[in-house]
Amino acid sequence: MNLKDCHNFDDYRKLAKKKLPSPIFHYIDGGSDDEITLNRNTEAFNDCDLVPNVLSDVGNIDLSTTVFGKKINFPLFLAPTAMHRLYHHHGEKASALAAEKFGTIFSMSTMSTTSIEEIGNVTGSPKLFQLYIHKDTGLTDNLIERCEQAGFDVMCLTVDTVVAGNRERDRKTGFTTPPRLTLSSLISFITHPAWSYNYLTHKKFKLANIIHMTEKGTSIDKSIIDYINEQFDPSMNWKDAEYCIKKWKGPFAIKGVMSVEDAKKALDVGASAIMISNHGGRQLDGSRAPFDQLAEIVDAVGDKIEVILDGGIRRGTHILKALAVGAKACSFGKGYLFALSAGGQAGVESVLQKMKDEINRNMILMGCKTINDLNRSKIAFR
Ligand code: LAC
Repeated sequence: MNLKDCHNFDDYRKLAKKKLPSPIFHYIDGGSDDEITLNRNTEAFNDCDLVPNVLSDVGNIDLSTTVFGKKINFPLFLAPTAMHRLYHHHGEKASALAAEKFGTIFSMSTMSTTSIEEIGNVTGSPKLFQLYIHKDTGLTDNLIERCEQAGFDVMCLTVDTVVAGNRERDRKTGFTTPPRLTLSSLISFITHPAWSYNYLTHKKFKLANIIHMTEKGTSIDKSIIDYINEQFDPSMNWKDAEYCIKKWKGPFAIKGVMSVEDAKKALDVGASAIMISNHGGRQLDGSRAPFDQLAEIVDAVGDKIEVILDGGIRRGTHILKALAVGAKACSFGKGYLFALSAGGQAGVESVLQKMKDEINRNMILMGCKTINDLNRSKIAFR
């Protein structure tokens, strides 16, 4: 099996599973507790149906949209995800260059393995930086200032990870960063020789943005659960969000908002966008799916703040449904991480092409000429 055999999410996932040592595959693939929310995030899209119009003169359609003040070629972008160097030896650069080629946004995590400055140098296309507030408060200012210098366009504060979700797969596989050699992980590395060779012969794993500030999680092998619980600040509150928004000044998203009440607070503290997200089902299991919350949040604040839908996106039609309800755009994480693992930059380009084709084909079938044609008249809940 290789990239050209991949036609959908399940295919990329299957290929990634073949290529990655199992602790790394399960780190991407897994959710928290019983993974009810992880699964519901995608299932939620099946509780409604698209309602097409026909004979709509759709010979020429336009998929572009504007989000965070940036025009993107189609309404999907790469969600911030941690540690790309673990999945492919070209790391975040591979994802960023693929996003650039497709005219969409690359998002970089605080916990990335490539630095803000390196990404600033390799891509001129729209870039989002995702901030985690650490207990070391100096780190927040340092990251924001560096993003400004490096030409990042959007700042995004993730607010749903103040303690780590219970990711039982990581406990079972013994997943650590950098990967720790134990008897069972050793077997997994030996049985994935291409990954192991590339891991050992390319740039050393490091949390490139924070290596100067914290040794933990960079040179010491740690579970991600321990890292989050030791380093992230659980006393983070709306005042901290407001502080970051004022310091950044540009487009600012709060990621991890799930309630109308919080959406209104995000607006009050000056955010220009919210990303409805439950961290891909990796944090609070039993949480509602982002798509299930979308209509209520759009109705409350959708005319005053940009609403992005993040979580569970596997198909172009999921994006069409989210936009019909009122989302401005969607982001996906696992969807492109499996493709990155399967084939580096070519893998991410391949999945972006598939998603773009799906959006395009289904817009035509819906009788929609532009993204604005997707509205509530195009969707019915069962
Ligand atoms: C995760 C964090 C680090 O989901 O974003 O693993």
